[in-house]
Parts: sequence; C-alpha cells; structure tokens
Amino acid sequence: MTDFAAVLLEQDAEGKTAARLTRLSESDLMQGDVTLAVRASAVNFKDGLAVTGRLPVVRRWPMVPGVDAAATVIASNNPNWLAGDEVILTGWGVGETHLGAWSERMRVSGDWLVRRPKALSPVEAMALGTAGLTVAEGLDRLRRHGVTPADGPVVVTGAAGGVGSMAVMLLAQEGWSVTAVTGRPEEAARLLRLGATEVIGRDLFAGPVKPLARERWAAAFDMVGSAVLAHVVSMLKPGGVAIACGNAAGMDFLASVAPFILRGVSLIGVDSVRVPAARREEIWRYLADVVDHDRLAAMTRTIALTEAVAAARRIVEGTVAGRTVVAIND
Ligand SMILES: NC(=O)c1ccc[n+]([C@@H]2O[C@H](COP(=O)([O-])OP(=O)(O)OC[C@H]3O[C@@H](n4cnc5c(N)ncnc54)[C@H](OP(=O)(O)O)[C@@H]3O)[C@@H](O)[C@H]2O)c1
Repeated sequence: MTDFAAVLLEQDAEGKTAARLTRLSESDLMQGDVTLAVRASAVNFKDGLAVTGRLPVVRRWPMVPGVDAAATVIASNNPNWLAGDEVILTGWGVGETHLGAWSERMRVSGDWLVRRPKALSPVEAMALGTAGLTVAEGLDRLRRHGVTPADGPVVVTGAAGGVGSMAVMLLAQEGWSVTAVTGRPEEAARLLRLGATEVIGRDLFAGPVKPLARERWAAAFDMVGSAVLAHVVSMLKPGGVAIACGNAAGMDFLASVAPFILRGVSLIGVDSVRVPAARREEIWRYLADVVDHDRLAAMTRTIALTEAVAAARRIVEGTVAGRTVVAIND
C-alpha cells in the first residue's frame, strides 16, 4: 500500500483545529520499530477533545487522532513481534504526541503493544479499549484497598457513556450492587441490562456540596469530575474509595476535606495512558476471561472511518451512549 486513508487534524494560525479524511504515505509515519495495519479503533473522549480542540491534548501537529488500535503487525524490527501478529495498542501518547489509530497504517514502538487475546475479535478489543483498561485498573485499586461488594454498593457517574457503561458491566460481573447515575433516563433500560441494580438521575449531585452528606456508597467510579466528584466523595461510607477516572464536566474539584479526615475515605486516580506494559498483559488476560460478549456487543456501535470525526464531536457533547468502535481494515 503506497498511500492509505487517515483522519488528519491540523491547527490554523488562530489555534482552531480542523479535521479531514485524507491520504497519507509511508513517509508520513513516525519513528518506531513496528509497522501496523490497523483493523479497528475507537472513539474515546480524548479523541473528542483532540478533534474539537476543547482541551489541548494534541501536542504535535499535524496529528492523527485515535488513542486505541487493534492491528496486525506488517513489519517488525522488534524481537518480540513478527509480521502477522495480532496486537492491541492503547494510550502511550498515541493520538496526542504520536500519530494515532484513525488511519489504515501506524508505525509505533513495539514496547507499546500487547498481544490480542484470541477470545477477543478486533472489534471486541476496541469495544473494551481504553475504557476496559481504565475500569480494570480501577477495580484493581479497589481490591488493593480491601474494599469489596460486602462493604456496600458502588456508584458510577456518567454511566451511559463509554467508560461508565464499561464500569457498570464489569462491576456488576464482579458482584457489586451498582447504582448508575445518568442524565439520560432513556438509557436506564440499557444500564439495567448491563447489570446496574438501580439507575438514578443527576439531581443528587446538583446544588452546593455538603462537607458530609448521607453515607450511601462503599465505592465510586467517577467519569465526570468537578462538583459531581465532590458530591460523590461527600456521600461515601467510612473507609470508602472513589476512583477518579474522568473530567467530562470539568477539571476542577472543589471539595471539603471532611470526608477524608472524618470518614477516612480515599480518592484514587487512574491514568490508563501510562499503565506499565507487564500490567497491561495481565489486564487484557483478565478482560478476555471475564467479558460477557453479548453485553459488550449491546453497549457497542461500530462505525466507518468516514464517521469518526462526527462521533468525536458528539462524545464531548455527552450524547454518545456506550462505546463506539471504528472499523478500519476489518
Ligand atoms: N483516567 C483515564 O485513564 C481515562 C481513560 C478513559 C477516559 N477517561 C475520561 O473519562 C471520562 C469519560 O470518558 P468516556 O469515553 O466514557 O466519555 P463519554 O462516553 O462522553 O461519557 C461521559 C459521560 O459523562 C456524563 N457527563 C457529560 N457531561 C456531564 C456533565 N456536565 N455533568 C454530569 N455528567 C456529565 C454523561 O453521562 P450520562 O449521560 O450518563 O449522564 C456522558 O455520557 C472522560 O472525561 C475521559 O477523558 C479517563
């Protein structure tokens, strides 16, 4: 293939981002010891930020967005990889500082790759993608803190979105009683089918944040940040743990220290971009083992590369439900 299709982001003199589907050539690819034929990617919130320029996640121009890839190795100078190997790549700055996966071809460091488990198709691997990795990391943090389903229910905010839906599904599979919080009541039936015990609106998380509110949950997975996370922390049971995953409502966090010093709660952040390589192997084995293929399919929509930019604009508006996979060479 001398040239190949890719989405390209460019920035104009006023700092405005423009996105277009174009053709690139092998010489446009970046440094790396492994060349990939991308089979599928996904639409993550970070891709939405890159395409809209809402936050400065892109730190190299022009950029190809797409932080997740399921791909086939087509050439390798890395001793760990051979042509024909099926791999997964998430994070490591791909789509931010290194050309990303909304492209038929990529060249990357072989150290960033994980072997795709046979139990997962490329589309399933991307339905899980960064969302699956993030939730699996959060689950591990809960275990390490000794917080278990016996301690009480878990709350998931931003539940109808990609990472939120993933959290609902995986937490329910791990035996948690899950309260799903969504601003979209029309998504309630889908969240209950994914395993939520109850679905509630956002009202509980509006208004001024009390230093200590009624104790409700043993754990939390928060996709939203800002005042919502502050409310969540104020409602944790003593010893409870909040996993901060996202910033869909904003980067700020104006909370009281009262829950930390009077209830001993913990706030733990997850950064899926820099999860060490060895840990990723474990996580993908775990995800391949536990995932319910029917539920995963029910929370996933597959689109073409031509539709990815529009989907990225919708994700930052909070109107995308579940995960969106971008089929590329598959
Ligand atoms: N830490 C990490 O490594 C990591 C990895 C992946 C993603 N993330 C972050 O996690 C967040 C979610 O990502 P995603 O892919 O799931 O995005 P998404 O599909 O757009 O989901 C975000 C959800 O947040 C809720 N929401 C949006 N704006 C809100 C507001 N103003 N107030 C309250 N709720 C609001 C909406 O849920 P409802 O409609 O259900 O209310 C929306 O669906 C993003 O901030 C993303 O950057 C972090």
